[in-house]
Amino acid sequence: MLELKKAAESEVEQARNPEDLDRIFNRYLGKEGLVVRILRSLKDMEPLQRVEIGKSANEFNVALRDLIYKKNQELKKHSKRAQKKIDITRPRRKVQFGHIHPLSQTFRRVEEIFQGMGFTVVEGTELETEYYNFDALNIPYDHPARDKWDTFWIKVPNPEKQKLLLRTHTSPMQARFLEKHNPPIRIIVPGRVFRHEATDASHEFDLCQIEGLMVGDDISVANFKVVISEFLKRFLNKDIKIRLRPSFFSFTEPSFEIDFSCVACKGKGCGVCKQSGWVELMGAGMVHPNVFKAAGLNPNDCQGFAFGIGADRLAMLKYGIKDIRHFRSGDMRFLSQF
Ligand code: DAH
Repeated sequence: MLELKKAAESEVEQARNPEDLDRIFNRYLGKEGLVVRILRSLKDMEPLQRVEIGKSANEFNVALRDLIYKKNQELKKHSKRAQKKIDITRPRRKVQFGHIHPLSQTFRRVEEIFQGMGFTVVEGTELETEYYNFDALNIPYDHPARDKWDTFWIKVPNPEKQKLLLRTHTSPMQARFLEKHNPPIRIIVPGRVFRHEATDASHEFDLCQIEGLMVGDDISVANFKVVISEFLKRFLNKDIKIRLRPSFFSFTEPSFEIDFSCVACKGKGCGVCKQSGWVELMGAGMVHPNVFKAAGLNPNDCQGFAFGIGADRLAMLKYGIKDIRHFRSGDMRFLSQF
């Protein structure tokens, strides 16, 4: 018994953690432990021996429990102290800061520049009526120009009364604004627009546009060219080549398309510019008399220009991005670069 006691004491002494102590407890005091086995064997012993061994086994039981308890307390104290210790040389955990999406950054910069030129920023709704998206912009129901915008129509209970859609462009805000304000007008309308079309490197179904409208007594194409060249110069911090190409939009007359020389391939021809060396940046033109009329204005009293810029294209141009689909991919490898 004395040897057993010594062995147990030295084991407890050497224990490094609570698991070691558990193991010792089980070996000596557990259900199948040594002490239980000794106590079980008492019945086969001589009465005198039984008294002596029984007594010392019980004493051993109590003493070992006490020892294990104390050692456990000691270990706990040590581990708490170890936890509290601060290693001041340890490098700090890297904090990942969030940042603004490249398209939002583009919107912010565009707004800043136009505000600097006296434009006001106004917003329209993404859910639009057929009237403002088309009719008020001189695109009546049976006009073939409607085919240009593959539209997401919204299911409504009474489509005969009013049809709703996800706006296919930011132009409806021209009509809404002209209805409520008299010239002189200088606004831009940044926002999301939606097209029901297949995606590829330069097409998305969920796009960002910036509409512009400047109306006064004698606002002309010359004013447009100055405003847009100045804007591009400030936005890109460099002079890029642009070209005006005759085009058609129902809500402008004359209409033109503005292209910029492709930055991805430097005009040589690639997937972004469909091998042409030029990328469409925006449509523009002089506001059509019918648009003024629909808004209750007299086209003889005012004139002005309007434009619609693809904000995604603008961001691609600025950052040299080759695939428009990256913006909404949610891929942090792409997004964290901006
Ligand atoms: N709304 C046209 C589109 O989404 C772009 C556009 C063209 C806007 C000419 C205009 C404009 O204001 O004058 O394709």
